Amino acid sequence: MMIERILVIGAGTMGRQIAMSCALSGYETLLQDISEQALTAARTDLEAWAASRVSKGKLEQPDADAALNRLAQSTDLAASASTADLVIEAAVERLDIKEQIFATLGEHAPAHAILATNSSTLPSSRVAAASGRPPQVCNMHFFNPALVMKCVEVVRNEQTSDETVEAVTAVATRLGKQPVLVNKEIPGFIANRMMGAINAEALNLAHAGIASIEDIDTTAKTALGHPMGPFELMDMVGLDVIDFIAQATFAETGNEADKPHPLITEKVQAGLLGRKSGEGFYPYS
Ligand code: CAA
Repeated sequence: MMIERILVIGAGTMGRQIAMSCALSGYETLLQDISEQALTAARTDLEAWAASRVSKGKLEQPDADAALNRLAQSTDLAASASTADLVIEAAVERLDIKEQIFATLGEHAPAHAILATNSSTLPSSRVAAASGRPPQVCNMHFFNPALVMKCVEVVRNEQTSDETVEAVTAVATRLGKQPVLVNKEIPGFIANRMMGAINAEALNLAHAGIASIEDIDTTAKTALGHPMGPFELMDMVGLDVIDFIAQATFAETGNEADKPHPLITEKVQAGLLGRKSGEGFYPYS
């Protein structure tokens, strides 16, 4: 199936970078958000990102201009859905909101359109029924920062068709990403399960006073070759997001080990959410 027009829903950290990635790869891309302000902030951010790539000599000015010209924006979900071949939903992680979005998509998107969700905590089976076209629904999970990170998890639910998996995998490849297939829905998919295990051990080591967060991060980088230490990474992702993922995972599994770690709860309650709030495990100024 030919995918030419992509709709990305949600102009937040993930949605705006996913949309830019699509536009850079030649797709006619529409970024939709209910907030005009969020769309303006996304545009300003992406223009600055493109300008910085051009000044570093990593992107030609005409290619940057062409990508930004291919990237339209709208606050009207129904109208935006009506021309999409593929929708990538990256809205807020709330089931009721996603159900509403998928119901609107089911009503207004062309019959052939594939409806994917970037959700890391809600498997697509939760929204498939609302869309009225379960075989055309799956998770297409990008990583932060989405313009840089290569991996895209393509997660099929029990009803996802092979054609849907093939089409979403082909798009991820054209975006220059490395798609990986998750054959069965499981909380956290692959990457967040592994990241959760590493974070849990790092948090336990720090909580028990075995080592400082700086030394734990240094060990991850210099002994294991990770690009960032777990505390640096949690600060980048956002401690509220880490807390939310843990709560969502615990709600699914009932496993005590999946509950948010006390160190995370402490930080979130103090409003220390990581880079975005100016302080998390580390200060940022
Ligand atoms: N947005 C866009 N581009 C960014 C960026 C951002 N927020 N941060 C860094 N970059 C770009 C830089 O512009 C730079 O590009 P060029 O090399 O082309 O100039 C490149 O990334 C490298 O950046 P830096 O040199 O500044 O720093 P770095 O080498 O330390 O790389 C990093 C930064 C890419 C973030 C790297 O540290 C890294 O890969 N960290 C691990 C990130 C990770 O694990 N992400 C997954 C999070 S979990 C998740 O997303 C799942 C979920 O569901 C919550």
